Amino acid sequence: MTTRLTTTGGAPIADNQNTLTAGPRGPVLLEDYQLIEKLAHQNRERIPERVVHAKGWGAYGTFTVTNDITRYTRASIFADVGKKTELLARFSTVAGELGAADHERDVRGFAVKFYTDEGNWDVVGNNTPIFFVRDPYKFPDFIHTQKRHPKSNLRSATAMWDFWSLSPEALHQVTILMSDRGLPRTPMQMNGYGSHTYSFWNKDGERFWVKFHFKTMQGHSHYTNREGEAVIGRTREGYQEALFGTIENGDFPKWKLCVQVMPELDAEQTPYNPFDLTKIWPHSDYPLIEVGIMELNRNPENYFAEIEQAAFSPSNKVPGIGYSPDKMLQARVFSYADAHRYRLGTHYEALPVNAPRCPVHHYHKDGQMNFFGQRTGHLDAYYEPNSIPASAKEDPSTAEPPLRISGDAARYNHREGNDDYSQARALHDRVMNDDERQRLYGNIAEAMQGIPEEIAERALGHFALISPAYADGIRAARAALGAGLQAAE
Ligand code: HEM
Repeated sequence: MTTRLTTTGGAPIADNQNTLTAGPRGPVLLEDYQLIEKLAHQNRERIPERVVHAKGWGAYGTFTVTNDITRYTRASIFADVGKKTELLARFSTVAGELGAADHERDVRGFAVKFYTDEGNWDVVGNNTPIFFVRDPYKFPDFIHTQKRHPKSNLRSATAMWDFWSLSPEALHQVTILMSDRGLPRTPMQMNGYGSHTYSFWNKDGERFWVKFHFKTMQGHSHYTNREGEAVIGRTREGYQEALFGTIENGDFPKWKLCVQVMPELDAEQTPYNPFDLTKIWPHSDYPLIEVGIMELNRNPENYFAEIEQAAFSPSNKVPGIGYSPDKMLQARVFSYADAHRYRLGTHYEALPVNAPRCPVHHYHKDGQMNFFGQRTGHLDAYYEPNSIPASAKEDPSTAEPPLRISGDAARYNHREGNDDYSQARALHDRVMNDDERQRLYGNIAEAMQGIPEEIAERALGHFALISPAYADGIRAARAALGAGLQAAE
């Protein structure tokens, strides 16, 4: 039997090739509703793209627990070794628009939605353990420098370096962005990080601070700028091709999920602020503890429905996992759900890709596109509290222990008392080898092309505070690049 074409109302369509006209040469009759419906639907095919991380690639998978961490958290996803949980992952670039080329030097988003049996838990991270800024006031301005200039509609290296050179806390992340890690070959060949400090709390109500690390099991692999340009010359969709193709071929990529755990009171003693998003926790102080394996093993059937409409949010947390005093994290708890209500609509959490795989009960009512009706457990229960036994009720057994933080409300200067140089110095002086440092200098020199000398000098002043060799290396790379450009002319 053939599949019959219908209107969205389900009525059969007899002719999908010829419009209904008053004669063989037209005009079209208004009553040709199928034509109107087709055109009207086409006009509504686009939704706003994500304000950041617009270009992305995603797939479904499974998380399997390999190590018992129940002494740190009561989160049901970690309840038993061997327990499996379905998940969705989406990788992305930050600055480019929906049609941007995949192989651009940029931070990569690394977002994972775990469909746990106590609700969705989203880790909305990046492929870097830190970030450019530590105060959410600075996030919209930072993103403006990464996007297009309002007049020229071009991206502006001057704006980027002006902002970075006035925000020394950014240079740790700039060092990572300009290093080999700034241009991974494929999404499978990079790590993911929750980046922020979150918290775990266990059955006894004890809290621990935690950082999440997804370690690639495919090995790290990166392109140089020249290699990236060559790939973009062949295809602008290299990541989509790689991720989709790999999974379609049954060659499922994997990451090892590890955590760093800090006892609650250590946070008052570390020489750095452990809630500062521009800082890592040294592995020597807080070693990685293996937790489980994430495997991606199923491509979505419809990119738009399942990846474009995927709504990740740090506000999606489950009992056993909490926030921390990190100001950036707290701003994100607001920002993402707000973005989704604007981009996808009030009931974005009810879309199949976002819907929890556990029972959902709440008293929110009505609204556009409410197709699920009432979710209160009983039809007469449309308010709360009520005396209807079958209605949905709060469960105090899932209460989170209080965050033991106190202080006076004030606008604390996030610069004061902060060392923005030591960790970047350790990365430059001790972690990178000579070849890696040379590529870092070259990438920074290229990224600085065309910016005013005054801004370059301001940035170099900060690089020199990280390490004199760092600034000297960039100066040498800039001179070589200038000489190369002159020779080419
Ligand atoms: C105050 C700081 C931040 C704000 C206000 C913010 C805001 C946003 C917004 C509004 C979106 C678009 C959401 C959507 O329309 O679906 C987004 C996407 C994203 N952000 Fe942030 N962001 C912040 C910091 C960060 C940080 C620090 C990370 C990583 C550690 C991060 C990772 C991501 C990722 C991965 C996505 C894409 C998620 C997806 O695949 O759909 N963001 N951000």
